[in-house]
Amino acid sequence: MKIDSGYKAFWETANKNYRDQLRPWGPLDVGIAISNVVNADHSERFAKPSERGWMSSLHPKIFPNRSTTVGALALTYKGLMNIKTPFDLALYTRLIWELQPRTILELGSLQGGSGLWFADHMSVLCEDLGEVHSFDWNSKCIHETARHPLLTFHQIDLNVANFDEELLMRLRHPWLVIDDAHVQIFSVFSHLNSFMESGDYYVIEDNPMNANKEIIDGLELIEKAGFLVDTYYTDAFGSNLTCAPNAWLRKS
Ligand SMILES: C[S@@+](CC[C@H](N)C(=O)[O-])C[C@H]1O[C@@H](n2cnc3c(N)ncnc32)[C@H](O)[C@@H]1O
Repeated sequence: MKIDSGYKAFWETANKNYRDQLRPWGPLDVGIAISNVVNADHSERFAKPSERGWMSSLHPKIFPNRSTTVGALALTYKGLMNIKTPFDLALYTRLIWELQPRTILELGSLQGGSGLWFADHMSVLCEDLGEVHSFDWNSKCIHETARHPLLTFHQIDLNVANFDEELLMRLRHPWLVIDDAHVQIFSVFSHLNSFMESGDYYVIEDNPMNANKEIIDGLELIEKAGFLVDTYYTDAFGSNLTCAPNAWLRKS
């Protein structure tokens, strides 16, 4: 994984060339303040789900009212639906750069807008271009403009999770899996996990916001399977300020 070498480089260069500007409230003070906080390599970054609380700074009601123009605009990409909060879009941008995934698997395509967003971002952020595969049972809803050379849509019923196993075996790692379909989430996880490797990521959107018994038990299963919460993502903007609280998970 790439780490935050940019901040270290800034500190070293500023210290070498513009030391007088690093004083408190000096012109470059803000850069130093940020570099102290944004440390992707800190020792407590990865945590067990069971050892974290469920306090979330993001309440479901924060989502824009579906009937307002502002809400509709906020949740589109290139004119297609892309139902992600601005926080989560910023987090995915960062993770795609940091992880350099060779494969992105999205469960729940809706109109194809989010798959297109992932493919576009892979193409600008990844040095070695991989593939984006998006799965849904309503394939007729995929819009004709949701097209990208890296992006493939698949029709599948996640209740039976009849993935093409040959495809899963051939896809290169690291993987970024995003479950945004909300169907049988833990059995789908168990199935995909058997194809996953150390360093791969699994993000479960929306359902963990309920933090009910099913979610807590399911995350215990995920913890037993060797996944840890990447708190760099869950807490980047505030404690669990994401639609995937405690569910930005990295396989150890
Ligand atoms: C919340 S939407 C996905 C949103 C999209 N990822 C985005 O960010 O804009 C959930 C999707 O899951 C799909 N879905 C629901 N049940 C499913 C099932 N059993 N198998 C496959 N897809 C399913 C729905 O058709 C819907 O498109």
